[in-house]
Amino acid sequence: MKPTPLGPVEQVALGDPSLTSGVPGTGPITLEQIEGWLADEKNFRQIDPILPLGLSQGAGQITGLDANPLTRAKIELGRQLYFDPRLSADNTISCASCHDPSMGYSAHTPTGVGIRGQAGGRNSPVSFNRILSGAQFWDGRADSLEAQAVGPIANPIEMGFTHEGVVKRLGGMPVYRRQFEAVFGELTIDRVGQAIAAFERVLVTAPAPFDFGEQLRPFAAMDPEDIAEDDELAAKFAAAKKAAEDHPMSEAANRGRDLFFGKANCTACHVGANLADEKYHNLGIGMQKENPDLGRFVVTKDPKDTGAFKTPTVRNVALTAPYMHDGSVATLEEVVEWYDRGGHPNPHLSDKMKPLNLTPQDKADLVEFMKACTGPTPTVEVSRLPADA
Ligand code: HEC
Ligand code: HEC
Repeated sequence: MKPTPLGPVEQVALGDPSLTSGVPGTGPITLEQIEGWLADEKNFRQIDPILPLGLSQGAGQITGLDANPLTRAKIELGRQLYFDPRLSADNTISCASCHDPSMGYSAHTPTGVGIRGQAGGRNSPVSFNRILSGAQFWDGRADSLEAQAVGPIANPIEMGFTHEGVVKRLGGMPVYRRQFEAVFGELTIDRVGQAIAAFERVLVTAPAPFDFGEQLRPFAAMDPEDIAEDDELAAKFAAAKKAAEDHPMSEAANRGRDLFFGKANCTACHVGANLADEKYHNLGIGMQKENPDLGRFVVTKDPKDTGAFKTPTVRNVALTAPYMHDGSVATLEEVVEWYDRGGHPNPHLSDKMKPLNLTPQDKADLVEFMKACTGPTPTVEVSRLPADA
């Protein structure tokens, strides 16, 4: 059923706005416009994604592309679905309601607020840099982005719909029907998940001041004469130096970086290209409650996973308050206080959690460092959706 991609594989740098700028035109997408878009062969070429500086160290972590290759047509279909409230029972809630580009692909409420104003039990995590991540959700219960993407549609307090209902509704809209036909040869709930996952995989963070600083770091350890003697190296050094000067790390952020990687031990868990180890840890968040959220334990039934949650990224974290799986921590300053105390004591607390004895200056520096981990996300068309009929 699945059409094979046409022509050669196209290498595209993720973040390229042409991937997410939508079908050309304005207003609701018409059948005529979509026919024109689908007639263009290059929209069906398989895309080999190139990660931006910073994330590129994590190329080995990329998952899911073999089973669900990227094409422009599929990414665009996923974009429409992601922003379309018609995927909810009463046409009010889209994925973007809780993972909003203007809120760092998260939401500024302690927990997700879905259909009819219902609040869920957990904080909305970010939906970017998912290309580097396997298991999804705070407890890792979905083993792929594809599996995750169809969950919220049928979740009674999120989008409150059914998988049959959404497939039927999409099939009733000719612009969607044509795209599923052309991209997948069929319209099923699994195809809905694949299209949304393809769109999410191209949402990545562009380099932050932190990344430009790291890029320059190896040169500091080299002999300036050696650099000067090698034309290629000298050119690389000049470019890295200029980039770092154009996106400066403050003194405080640099001190914070050394704490993050050193005395404060944050990289025991916030490690790798996305500053997240993809593992589960108990920091004691919510463990003082009478019936705490048991997190990863519910998935594995392994007592050591009690109250453990997946390490979230620190990239763009300055944009996504409040924090933690229950949204209980309001600011980055309070997050740092939590770690300085060594978390909340409980029988399952991670052995990596210890009081840190940070000075007020250290704490402020750590916050500055996290702010310097903020990089732009791609420009995304948010309002152009298929016409009703
Ligand atoms: C009502 C708010 C809400 C809506 C609507 C919603 N989400 Fe979420 N999303 C959440 C919450 C809350 C979690 C964490 C739940 C958990 O871990 O149990 C989450 C988790 C995720 C994750 C996992 C991220 C990670 O780091 O593990 C992804 C990806 C995601 N959502 C994408 C989507 C997509 C795609 C849609 C639309 C089909 C969507 N969400 C709709 C609130 C929402
Ligand atoms: C033992 C592993 C571990 C260590 C060490 C650690 N973190 Fe975390 N971090 C996590 C986990 C797991 C969460 C989510 C916990 C939860 O919600 O229950 C988290 C959450 C966060 C959040 C909130 C992110 C969000 O989106 O809600 C920030 C900010 C953060 N950590 C920064 C830091 C800093 C700064 C340090 C060092 C002082 C640090 N972390 C040390 C594992 C760790």
